[in-house]
Amino acid sequence: MASAPKILVFAGSLRRDSWNKKLARVGADAVRAAGGEATLLDLADLPMPLYDGDLEKEHGLPEHAKRLKQLMKDHAGLLIASPEYNTSIPGVLKNAIDWASRAEAGETPLQCFDGKVAALLSASPGALGGLRGLATLRSILGGIRVLVIPEQLAVPKAHEAFDEAGKLKDAKQQTTLAAIAKRLVTVVARLNAGP
Ligand code: FNR
Repeated sequence: MASAPKILVFAGSLRRDSWNKKLARVGADAVRAAGGEATLLDLADLPMPLYDGDLEKEHGLPEHAKRLKQLMKDHAGLLIASPEYNTSIPGVLKNAIDWASRAEAGETPLQCFDGKVAALLSASPGALGGLRGLATLRSILGGIRVLVIPEQLAVPKAHEAFDEAGKLKDAKQQTTLAAIAKRLVTVVARLNAGP
């Protein structure tokens, strides 16, 4: 039997009590339930300086940017739960993407993104659930050779959305999340099934 599709799951927030980290956690559970192997990453464990071309020229990529790239290379799919900041994505997520997009010697351009499949989630205390930021994230990832599946979930009123165990209270949201995870795992498995 083919091995379970490997999915890297992370939130675009550093905040300890982040709603998007909570959503990433239930997303990882949904990936596992769909037959995938989920690795939950906390971007707070990989702090990086702001991208600076001089810094890159003088010192190369920061260790944590290299680590992120390696993690992405080790996984065939990405599940990202991103907050919406001012109708776009948080700088911390864009900065991580920007560093990871920089090729080092021996790498092909955008190697850690090329051929990846991604699914997008968002959570916000607001009424739209961070939906507008996902359009931007979809566009960014599409531009760096990531296939982003059409299904996505935006969780509004995030401060009321999770129960004490960290699960989504709304059965409809949970069903949507399960369907997204299933689609992600299925697409990754089929794309990597070989000829
Ligand atoms: C926000 N927030 C926000 N929410 C939203 O729905 N649309 C938006 O455009 C913005 N803009 C925005 C900008 C900045 C700079 C901050 C700090 C916050 C609120 C945001 O959704 C809220 O802080 C979430 O709790 C952030 O996600 P985490 O950290 O809980 O995952």
